[in-house]
Amino acid sequence: MTYIENILVVGKGGREHALGDKLAKDNPGTNLFFAPGNGGTSDIGTNLDIGVDDFDSITDFARDNDAFTVVGPDQPIVDGLGDALREAHVPVFAPTAAAARLEGSKVFAAEFNERHGIQQPRFFVARSLSQAIQYVQSHDASSYVIKADGLALGKGVHLPSSTVEATNSVYEMMHKNDRTAHKPLLFQERLTGREVSMFAFTDGTHIVPLLPSQDHKRAFDHDIGPNTGGMGAYAPAPFMSAEDIDTFTSTILQKTVDGMREDGTPYKGVLYVGGMMTDQGPQVLEYNARFGDPEAQPLLTLMSSELAPVMLACMGNGLRRQQVRFRNGAAACVVLASEGYPDTPETGQVIYGLDQVEDPNITVFHAGTSKVDGDYVVSGGRVLGINAYGRTVKEAIHRAYAAIGPRGIHFDGMFYRTDIGHQVVR
Ligand code: AMP
Ligand code: GLY
Repeated sequence: MTYIENILVVGKGGREHALGDKLAKDNPGTNLFFAPGNGGTSDIGTNLDIGVDDFDSITDFARDNDAFTVVGPDQPIVDGLGDALREAHVPVFAPTAAAARLEGSKVFAAEFNERHGIQQPRFFVARSLSQAIQYVQSHDASSYVIKADGLALGKGVHLPSSTVEATNSVYEMMHKNDRTAHKPLLFQERLTGREVSMFAFTDGTHIVPLLPSQDHKRAFDHDIGPNTGGMGAYAPAPFMSAEDIDTFTSTILQKTVDGMREDGTPYKGVLYVGGMMTDQGPQVLEYNARFGDPEAQPLLTLMSSELAPVMLACMGNGLRRQQVRFRNGAAACVVLASEGYPDTPETGQVIYGLDQVEDPNITVFHAGTSKVDGDYVVSGGRVLGINAYGRTVKEAIHRAYAAIGPRGIHFDGMFYRTDIGHQVVR
């Protein structure tokens, strides 16, 4: 066991609760801190009143307490929290801002893939409104997707169904939305196939892929409704054969890490590729410079080797394949959301049934919760991730659903998808 006295997890979602839970279980004596954490993380560690964008306070705390710091969410990673902590000589798990451009700029990522021969949809970069309008007017709206260049809180991708809709999206993104206005737009060929979330730990040279997993981005059953941060996930994705995983690993994950190193911006950390399995093989839809949420929840449920040594090996130039091991079986996560999510979620409702979970295969990770006078109350859109382990994906999914409902975990205005895993389970 690698003993680490103090660990700080930056973030407040289900992913960060799952990361903290795994790190604490691996290191029973460790002092765990969250900045800022949520209702669930306060049960396994200490929540600090520090936001994820308060780099000075995070750095001061980590340095003063010599805390190994794990950064969960995209924005602080893209904004350089990893670099700030490294400058302060804090051991940290987060890629550099230069490497995180893979996530922070879709135009950078598309041009990087082109330069390094990594398979992706055909693309066009519109650098002005008139270029974008011209593109929209000369292409069938169902043939492309429109992506804002920077981080856009899950609202950066549009799949228009008509030219009018596409024109409105272009105006909205290039003019009205403060986060994306006056930045380029990426038009990408619209692909069909199965989506897969592939992750790899990497030290900048060597990579170790994690199990393939699948997210469910749309809010409602049958993949309809608005895009969300993710409504559920499972791993391993059974439609990925050993050969598919090998192809994905060699043609995308390894090539990406090699390309970043050759370009002088080595990528160290966990790399997340949102991929599409097409008739032409796997292709990159998007990169992320962090763990996915909810995918991290089932993946960490299945990881049997210790996490902190893997993270330290990634940052320190010495990752070995044998360091990363998974249990047999499968895990699934069903996200419970609050009415109105993703746009205007209700908050303040009391959550019931958390103390009634008896199945040892269930772990509940909190996201939008806080603790008020001993009660857990809803404080955000994605509220809880109900995670279950099973021998098969089907068993894991059924177990997760069995914990939810009027006799199990529930709150007013709760909604969730009832078809997580519908692609693989009937
Ligand atoms: P992203 O944030 O880039 O992962 O995009 C959000 C969602 O939009 C993805 O999960 C896909 O469902 C869809 N999407 C993104 N790019 C494409 C593409 N080129 N073709 C088809 N669907 C896409
Ligand atoms: N599950 C999607 C994401 O983390 O971006």
